[in-house]
Amino acid sequence: MSEPITTWGAWDEATQNDPYPLFERMRAECPVQRVRLADGHEAWLVLGHVAAQQALKDGRLSKDIVAALDEDPDVVDPGLPGPAFARHMMNLDPPDHARLRRLVSRAFVPTRIAALEPSIERIARELLEELEAAGPESIVDLVEGFAYPLPFRVICELLGVPEEDRVGLRQSFRTLFQPWSGSPPPEAVAASDMIVASLRHLVATHREQHQDDLVGVLVTASDDDDRLTEQELLSSLFQLIVAGHDTTTSLIGNGVVDLLEHPDQLRLLREDPDRMPAAIEELIRFSAPVPHATFRVATEAVDLEGVEIPAHEQVLICLGAANHDPGFYDNPAVLDISREPRPHLGFGHGIHFCLGAPLARLEARIAFGALLGRFPDLRLAVDRRELRWTHGDGLVLRGLDELPVRLGQPA
Ligand code: HEM
Repeated sequence: MSEPITTWGAWDEATQNDPYPLFERMRAECPVQRVRLADGHEAWLVLGHVAAQQALKDGRLSKDIVAALDEDPDVVDPGLPGPAFARHMMNLDPPDHARLRRLVSRAFVPTRIAALEPSIERIARELLEELEAAGPESIVDLVEGFAYPLPFRVICELLGVPEEDRVGLRQSFRTLFQPWSGSPPPEAVAASDMIVASLRHLVATHREQHQDDLVGVLVTASDDDDRLTEQELLSSLFQLIVAGHDTTTSLIGNGVVDLLEHPDQLRLLREDPDRMPAAIEELIRFSAPVPHATFRVATEAVDLEGVEIPAHEQVLICLGAANHDPGFYDNPAVLDISREPRPHLGFGHGIHFCLGAPLARLEARIAFGALLGRFPDLRLAVDRRELRWTHGDGLVLRGLDELPVRLGQPA
């Protein structure tokens, strides 16, 4: 077995702020290679577009983290709140994956997502009004005031989380996802316990009184069909909140920076708002809010572009590198909202393709539309080099902790 040559993750600030030169160098060196992760585990890193697409749909690369932990507890870090909350679709293989995805999909049917549109527009408007009250030349934090609360409030509405519980829950998720190394700090454990207690309470109240929201749909699915266990129900709720807010926050935050840095592209978009859907796909490709897919474990030896991954080893697919593969995209390092559309891997691929993609696209369309439409003079309040992409682990999430801007006079 060859020695790991690079440590992957927990990068220095410069790499965290811009990992693309590293992605580029590693992919050019070899599209599939062995690395050591920051937690000490070893893994196979997939960086090329062809290999990434193949890996994402290869059933021999299992997502069943609990089985992998059973097999070899050292293979992967279970994270918080631990294996008891890890039985959701993102961590399962067929046939359980299909069963859970089918049940949860009931809450993601197009009519239910479309019905959220007025609420998302209202939330975007309210948040921007609050920011605007500071005055056009005041410095406001667009992450804290807009990019974070918008998707968080939307996922709370979709789930039916009562208003009075949202602030506490939001704070706990912020704490839980502060980066740490080694074992989790006490505040992260406390935040995780608080989230678990809130979710249990949410399910209990929905059992007492049925409501027509996502939790209501899932509770009914578990009661009527006896097909969703309590563990699967709670794990699914936890995963939906996690997958459903910080990701979109990063799309909005990273996307605003990208557009402000590329005034020609911003102008094109302002002149023709019909370009918005294409612009959103390009922003996801260009600066991946989710730079890597979640971990997979090989159940048997798998060949990826001529590199053999032995059984029981971890695989990490770098979507950010694959989405900048010059073998697949012309001028991949250029932000071009008019580029000839080619599918990107920013929402994954295969059976685990992002279930929330239609919701994320709708939220992004409304968020960018409301922000850019209302504030034609929006600009960064600090030098671009002062921005820090320190939110998230840089692997499955890459986002800004703060985005100081001046909104300028409203239109
Ligand atoms: C810009 C925003 C988003 C991005 C970039 C994103 C990205 C992804 C990616 C890359 C995966 C595949 C992970 C893998 O194969 O390991 C995924 C899966 C998933 N996402 Fe998203 N996501 C976003 C927003 C959302 C939202 C808003 C929701 C729900 C409210 C959501 C729910 C899910 C779920 C449930 C899965 C698991 C699907 C499965 O395993 O079958 N995501 N997402």
